[in-house]
Amino acid sequence: MRAARCHTLGGPPVVEEVPEPRGEVPVDVHFAAVNFADVLVIEGTYQVKAEVPFIPGSEFSGTVARDGHGFRVGDRVFGSAFIGAFAERVAVSAASLHRIPAAVPMEGAAAFGVSHATAFNALRLVADVREGERVTVLGAAGAVGLAAVELALLLGAEVIAVASSEEKRAVCAELGAHTVLPYEHLKRALQEAGGADVVVDPVGGPHSEQALRGMRWGGRFVSVGFASGEIPSIPLNLAMLKGVTIHGFDFGGWARHDRERLAAARIELHRLFAEGAVHPRIHAVHPLDEVGAALRVGRGAIGKVLLEVARGV
Ligand SMILES: NC(=O)c1ccc[n+]([C@@H]2O[C@H](COP(=O)([O-])OP(=O)(O)OC[C@H]3O[C@@H](n4cnc5c(N)ncnc54)[C@H](OP(=O)(O)O)[C@@H]3O)[C@@H](O)[C@H]2O)c1
Repeated sequence: MRAARCHTLGGPPVVEEVPEPRGEVPVDVHFAAVNFADVLVIEGTYQVKAEVPFIPGSEFSGTVARDGHGFRVGDRVFGSAFIGAFAERVAVSAASLHRIPAAVPMEGAAAFGVSHATAFNALRLVADVREGERVTVLGAAGAVGLAAVELALLLGAEVIAVASSEEKRAVCAELGAHTVLPYEHLKRALQEAGGADVVVDPVGGPHSEQALRGMRWGGRFVSVGFASGEIPSIPLNLAMLKGVTIHGFDFGGWARHDRERLAAARIELHRLFAEGAVHPRIHAVHPLDEVGAALRVGRGAIGKVLLEVARGV
C-alpha cells in the first residue's frame, strides 16, 4: 500500500510503498485530516515522539476492510490514532472507531472527530456553558475555533469570534457569530461588548491575558492549546480580582482521569453530528501525493485541511 512516511524527525514525509499495517480493525482510508498535532509530531516537537520511520496522521474516515470486532467489510467509519492515517490503510482498535451517520459524507467525517470533540469538551464538560452566556473564541477560524463557534451557538450562547484577518472574521460571522473582533485592543473591545463569561483559547501567547482581562465576574477561561507557539504566564491576581476560574482541557488527561464523563460528552456530540446539526468546514482537500502542500497550509486554513487517499490512484 502507499503511505506518506517520515524517515527522520523534522524531515518531510515521503509518499512510497510500505507494508500493510497490523491491528484490530483495518480501515481503507478515504480522507485523513491534517491536525495541528500532526505537524508537531512530524517536526519532532510534540510532547510524545514517534519512532522513525513512521506514518503520520491522527484522524481519518474510510471503510472497514475485514469482518470482526463488531464491524463488517464496507462499514463507513471515522476514527483517530496517534499516527498512521496518511496511508491507504490504517489499523486501529475497535474502540477508537465510530460509525459515520448515514447522511454524513466521508469528508465531513474525517474533519469532525478531533476539533469538534475538543471544542465541545471545553464548552460543555469544562466551562458548562449555559444558554445566553457570552462565549469568546480565540483563533476562531482555526479548526478548533470554528468548531467552538458552531457548538457554542448550538448551546445557545452569544458568540464573540476573535481572528486575525477580515476573511477569517467574515467566515465566523457567516457561521453565526454575533460579534467578530481582531486581536488588537481585545481587552477593551470585550469589555465594551459587556465582557465574556467563557473564553475558549486554542492560541495562547499575549492574547490570552487580554481575553482574560476582558472577562466578566465569575467567568471560566479554558485553555486548549498554544497554536501561537507561546505558553502565556497569567498574573493570578486577575483570577482573584475577577472571580474567574482558569481551566485546561486536554484529551490525554481526561481519558486517563475521567473517561466516563468524556464518553458521555462524546455520545451527546455524536448525536448532534448524526442529527445534521454540526458541519465541519473543509478548507482544502489535497491528494496524498501533495502531503507537503497540505502540511504547509498552517495558519492560512479556515477550518480543516484534508488529504484524499484513494487506493490505487
Ligand atoms: N487540548 C486538546 O486536547 C487539543 C485537541 C486538538 C487541538 N489542540 C490544540 O489546539 C490548538 C489549535 O488547533 P487547531 O486544530 O485549531 O489549529 P489550526 O486550525 O491551525 O488553528 C489555529 C489558529 O491559531 C491561530 N494562530 C495564532 N498564531 C498561530 C501560529 N503561529 N500558527 C498557527 N496558528 C496560529 C490562528 O488563528 P488567527 O490567525 O486568527 O490567530 C489559527 O487559525 C493547537 O495548539 C492544537 O495542538 C488541543
